[in-house]
Amino acid sequence: MTAERNGDQLAQIGVVGMAVMGSNLARNFASKGHTVAIYNRSPEKTRSVVEEFGAEGDFLPAETIEDFVASLQRPRKAVIMVQAGAATDAVIAQLVEAMDDGDIIIDGGNSLFTDTIRREREVAAAGRHFVGAGISGGEEGALRGPSIMPGGPVESWETLGPLLEDIAAKVDGTPCVTHIGPDGAGHFVKMVHNGIEYADMQVIGEAYHLLRYAAGLDPAEIADIFTEWNKGDLDSYLIEITAEVLRQVDARTGKPFIDIIVDAAGQKGTGRWTVKEALDLGVPTTAIGEAVFARALSSALAQREAAQATTLPSGKTQTWETLGVDKQSFIEDVRRALYASKLVAYAQGFDEINAGSQEHNWDIKPGDLARIWRGGCIIRAKFLDRITEAYENDPQLPSLLLDPYFKGELDKGLVDSWRRVVVAATQLGLPVPVFASSLSYYDSLRAQRLPAALIQGQRDFFGAHTYRRVDMEGTFHTTWSGEREELSY
Ligand code: ATR
Repeated sequence: MTAERNGDQLAQIGVVGMAVMGSNLARNFASKGHTVAIYNRSPEKTRSVVEEFGAEGDFLPAETIEDFVASLQRPRKAVIMVQAGAATDAVIAQLVEAMDDGDIIIDGGNSLFTDTIRREREVAAAGRHFVGAGISGGEEGALRGPSIMPGGPVESWETLGPLLEDIAAKVDGTPCVTHIGPDGAGHFVKMVHNGIEYADMQVIGEAYHLLRYAAGLDPAEIADIFTEWNKGDLDSYLIEITAEVLRQVDARTGKPFIDIIVDAAGQKGTGRWTVKEALDLGVPTTAIGEAVFARALSSALAQREAAQATTLPSGKTQTWETLGVDKQSFIEDVRRALYASKLVAYAQGFDEINAGSQEHNWDIKPGDLARIWRGGCIIRAKFLDRITEAYENDPQLPSLLLDPYFKGELDKGLVDSWRRVVVAATQLGLPVPVFASSLSYYDSLRAQRLPAALIQGQRDFFGAHTYRRVDMEGTFHTTWSGEREELSY
């Protein structure tokens, strides 16, 4: 327990951790007229924030956690922006010790939602409130307006909401923040958001790859195509920066910048978490899964080199010339295949959010999420307005693909283009893991019969796992090794 600083001005909010994200978030609060208490384990970082940015607003620097806590207005509100994992646990323990009942600890890092659930339980047992908040938008977002996904108790949201609304990105005057749900809901949603981001980046990558290595366009030409696409249905931050990256020329060599980057994609883990969780929930997030695996395969450099050195046979592939397609119509087909695959990725991501919400009783409103992702975050896009509308029209929508607007889009020739692109890529021997698997997912979803019937037959044969019949209720088993009688249970 800590007493207030006597006679001093107190801060409305505090930020612990003055690395890039933390200092930018503190500057964002200060720029909105809030007095911000700041603290970092090593005091030099705190001092340099004051030196460099002190003129931007009112900062109350502290060199001990006790001083930091003492400089906060009650109920005290402190956002932790330190490394996820042990560092976050250490800072939570210090804050719990120094704070009083009813004070609010906010974890703004990329924490795993199950850690958030555990932390909330522990912090609540000590009488303090805990809010796990996903914050998206990187450094720039933290400074100028991120998309914020806070979980935790609703009472905390009432106190914290106005402050977070002040610093969040705004789209049409609406702040990109809302209370997502109890305990780990915010970090869960942030996790799936990042998973969707992996898939979105991968489908853009596949489109680029086809335009480059099927249609033979150069990076600058492809940049112009992405700029054009950015004016339509695909209008999004990721398409915009794709054009920037493709237009960039390497200063050292004069080559296209894209050609001097090693083609091995890194990952920090949130995509992997999304897929692991999807497996546990039994939700087929194939697009996110393929995107995570595509990054893993790209980084398996030794294996790729060995495969190239032994020249694994390609089979009889076509060339662009033998394929004989018109370039302009191919470009349009690729745009549509990208759009359709992206739609599948988002539909699957929202399915995972709905399943997680049900599993944990979070009561997440999917339309609200699409709304707060329209600004600040990496997947911000015009497309999200449509997703919000889809869930507003029908909160129980079984799949985004079944929303009348999106179904109408698919009806406008999207599916034909998608098939042509996947066939062409296959004939050319070019990999399109998300385009192709999303099309298979789509065809599976619409299929009248799936080979799952055969799998049930096999399972009953070797393991007496039983099956259900299409023509009567009940559970059945055939005595495969005996008379092949059917037993019912
Ligand atoms: P970013 O990605 O924003 O650059 P990060 O690497 O996620 O930052 O986190 C770095 C921050 O975590 C730093 O503020 C660091 O404090 P120091 O400057 O003292 O290193 C903080 N941090 C890491 N471990 C910590 C711990 N055990 N206790 C307190 N703060 C810690």
